[in-house]
Amino acid sequence: MIQLRNVYKRYKDTYALQNINLDILSSEFVFLTGSSGAGKSTLMKLLYREEIPTSGTVMIGNINIAKLPNDRVPNIRRCMGIVFQDYKLLPNISVYDNIAFVIRTLGMRSKEIQERVLGALKVVGLSNKMNAKPNELSGGEQQRVSIARAIVNGPPLLIADEPTGNLDPKTSLEIMQILEQINEKGITVIVSTHDRDIVDYFRKRVITLEQGQIIRDVQAGRYEQ
Ligand SMILES: Nc1ncnc2c1ncn2[C@@H]1O[C@H](COP(=O)(O)OP(=O)(O)OP(=O)(O)O)[C@@H](O)[C@H]1O
Ligand SMILES: [Mg+2]
Repeated sequence: MIQLRNVYKRYKDTYALQNINLDILSSEFVFLTGSSGAGKSTLMKLLYREEIPTSGTVMIGNINIAKLPNDRVPNIRRCMGIVFQDYKLLPNISVYDNIAFVIRTLGMRSKEIQERVLGALKVVGLSNKMNAKPNELSGGEQQRVSIARAIVNGPPLLIADEPTGNLDPKTSLEIMQILEQINEKGITVIVSTHDRDIVDYFRKRVITLEQGQIIRDVQAGRYEQ
């Protein structure tokens, strides 16, 4: 599903990524680890076309998104859900409206919008908070809302950049279990994290970056070997 070949990304005079070659199959669950500045967020930004590689190809399905015209970016983004450390919820509207926001722009019938939003809320276990505003929720609950928003359109790919970076260990585990359940339905999940305990607990594929290069890629791995 995802194939990177000879990918380099340079910001001014720093190489954030160098010679990245990587395949991620459909339905895989991947942890992306590495110290601060290793290039995790940059790699993810290439996948959701927030950044363009300096050279190399980034294939999502059969589309090289490194060469995708800007006006086609919204199309490819619709095939992926993106989750951030700081949730990025709209503060002045309800949980329900935050989740419905994007699919409302797709011209879907309101009945279908409702079914999808309620379905997504159920997946993250937050049906009872649909009328709350984001600032009435805990951090863990806000992250659940952002995950519901990411999956509401049924994307084949979910990208989460340090989704538990602001959460305590118990809440982090709950959030990661939700991501695992989503993956079990066949959605490809890529998660960057610094959380050693989480990586060691789940024993998934672990890809480690160091100074912009892949230094390790193991199945059923731990944070360190
Ligand atoms: N917009 C930018 N302009 C210039 N340099 C950047 C930019 N974004 C990232 N970098 C640099 O690229 C390198 C990789 O950054 P990146 O954010 O991908 O690291 P990271 O692994 O996500 O780190 P962290 O764990 O702290 O989130 C760093 O040296 C960073 O300073
Ligand atoms: Mg980062």
